[in-house]
Amino acid sequence: PDAIMVQELANRMAERVSDVVKSLMQMGMMVTQNQTIDQDTAELIVEEFGHKIVRVSDADVEDVIDQVVDSPEDLKPRAPIITVMGHVDHGKTSLLDAIRNARVVSGEAGGITQHIGAYQVEQNGDLLTFLDTPGHAAFTSMRSRGAQVTDIVILVVAADDAVMPQTIEAIAHAKAANVPMIVAINKIDRPAADPQKVRTDLLQHEVIVEQMSGEVQDVEVSATTGQGLDQLLEAIALQSEILELKANPNRAASGAVIEAQLDVGRGPVATVLVQNGTLKLGDIFVVGEQWGKVRALISDSGERIKTAGPSTPVEVLGLNGTPEAGDVLNVVETEAQAREIAEYRAQAAKDKRAALGAATTLEQLMANA
Ligand code: GTP
Ligand code: MG
Repeated sequence: PDAIMVQELANRMAERVSDVVKSLMQMGMMVTQNQTIDQDTAELIVEEFGHKIVRVSDADVEDVIDQVVDSPEDLKPRAPIITVMGHVDHGKTSLLDAIRNARVVSGEAGGITQHIGAYQVEQNGDLLTFLDTPGHAAFTSMRSRGAQVTDIVILVVAADDAVMPQTIEAIAHAKAANVPMIVAINKIDRPAADPQKVRTDLLQHEVIVEQMSGEVQDVEVSATTGQGLDQLLEAIALQSEILELKANPNRAASGAVIEAQLDVGRGPVATVLVQNGTLKLGDIFVVGEQWGKVRALISDSGERIKTAGPSTPVEVLGLNGTPEAGDVLNVVETEAQAREIAEYRAQAAKDKRAALGAATTLEQLMANA
């Protein structure tokens, strides 16, 4: 059988040789660092050190991730995060494009193409952050996560259609998240447009708009002609003022992944919405089961930036793997911490899946019995 020198074994495990010798002594083997041990003994030692090295717990993870509550004097006003929701084809993306195009500084015309599914615009000197949500049913879970990062929901309802299943779903999300809603009655330019029908339809879902003497702001808009866009932006500004949104830009960043994909040229790329703190080049972070070091930050208009503060959507490069939409990003101090937390989470998720798998099998067994 193979044998290994104690010194060599310690080196390979990146452990102190004195610790290894001590462990061997506890096992009843009196050896020095220059003596060899057999493979079975070596395996026992590896196992023992293995156990000690990698075990972390939920509590350790929470400790590493900065949970410090910001004191009021550190809080600064931040841009509202506005999520556009509604039924498929009711015009969410068109409306966002229209707002963006109307607000893009002239001379920047070439840069109008939306780079990521989130962007910021300026309205009377204040910034507004917009998030699009895909209308497809497969994105239901992401949309529900979207409601957690959002401050205001714009519910888009096509005036020539009606309140539809995903409209109702969006209302439910906004209510569950306790987020104020603004109703945008879109496609008002269409001959078949009947905004009053939309308002009465909404009553059935306990959304009472201002025109119906309720408190939910409603605005008639057309993404195609641009009608009503200014009123919509005013409605947002009003709602945002009431919310008095704040964050601390001077701390380690935390945020949420809006979308992520493996890019052929650039590797894993995540669009992150910074929710607190400031994300900087070189920051080490953990995001869901992945970790990384910020190699580049790319703004909504495709420019490389060095920092991204609260409410800023930004593309992050430098990940070691692709996270999932809805994953939370936290900046930590060291690569070792980031790796440890990511590995711990990956293992925990794996264990959970295995447990779920076993449960299903058991259920199936019971059902078949
Ligand atoms: P999903 O992302 O698939 O859920 O759709 P969406 O809600 O983002 O709708 P999108 O913006 O893709 O618009 C759907 C269709 O409606 C497109 O053909 C748009 O050109 C059209 N549309 C959107 N807004 C308006 C509008 O105000 N007036 C008219 N006439 N057409 C519109
Ligand atoms: Mg869309």
